[in-house]
Amino acid sequence: MSYRTILFAVEERVGTITFNRPDKLNALNSEMLREIKEILTEIKTNSEIRALILTGAGRAFIAGADIQVFTRMDPLSAREFVRSAHEVAFQMEDLDVPVIAAVNGYALGGGLEMVLACDLIFAADTARFGQPEVNLGFCPGFGATQRLPRAIGKVRAKDLVLTGRTIEAPEALASGLVSRVFPAAALLEETQKVARSLAEKGRVALAGAKHAVDRGFDADLRTGCTLEIQAFSLCFASPDAREGAAAFLEKRPPKFE
Ligand code: COA
Repeated sequence: MSYRTILFAVEERVGTITFNRPDKLNALNSEMLREIKEILTEIKTNSEIRALILTGAGRAFIAGADIQVFTRMDPLSAREFVRSAHEVAFQMEDLDVPVIAAVNGYALGGGLEMVLACDLIFAADTARFGQPEVNLGFCPGFGATQRLPRAIGKVRAKDLVLTGRTIEAPEALASGLVSRVFPAAALLEETQKVARSLAEKGRVALAGAKHAVDRGFDADLRTGCTLEIQAFSLCFASPDAREGAAAFLEKRPPKFE
């Protein structure tokens, strides 16, 4: 299937979505959201894809929602627009496979909000992050007021959301917004290595770990631990857990299903 605003490829069980409006720094519009949604729906039921990478063509990951859209927006269309972005973020979080952001350049506004819905966040040393919406006269609408404090804490999140300032990769790393920074030229290859290694792990184990962390993070400790007990137990519904343990004891690499 071909798309107008993104590229999608699958290689070695790793899917890659590349945001592809480089002349507009990959600004997010309704069409792009619709196309991303379509792919995520396909990935949800495609057991051949075991990890997903998001990245951007050119010098941006996504430099925010397409500002063109806002000049003719009213409250109803605003609600529809941000709702569909929230749906995409939840779709990514609901996927059983890990989603990795390879932040190659600007991740601003809706771009950073897409990043925040990913499971792993890697950045080029040239990447820049921010929530500049207040500079345009509105507040973030694709989830930053909620996911950013959960990711980096309330104080740091407000420093970004209220000032609208842009930060560079070292500050993003120091604040825990990203977990790894690579030289720009190596970002994609390093991300692919990690994605391929995830694709070789047991699907049930990864899904259980991802959802237990995400759902447990928003719950009290006891509820979170109950979620972990369920996730752990479910691992033994697949042969992978017994295979992993047997392989270790037999001093051989495991063969997960
Ligand atoms: N929406 C629509 N178009 C955008 C855009 C956005 N969020 N971000 C960049 N573009 C467009 C520019 O209008 C320009 O288009 P043009 O060549 O047709 O004029 C093109 O992308 C290149 O951007 P430009 O501003 O010329 O690049 P730069 O290197 O000088 O600056 C940024 C880069 C990211 C600092 C700057 O583009 C910017 O501030 N973008 C908006 C960021 C933002 O506020 N995002 C939140 C939106 S809610």
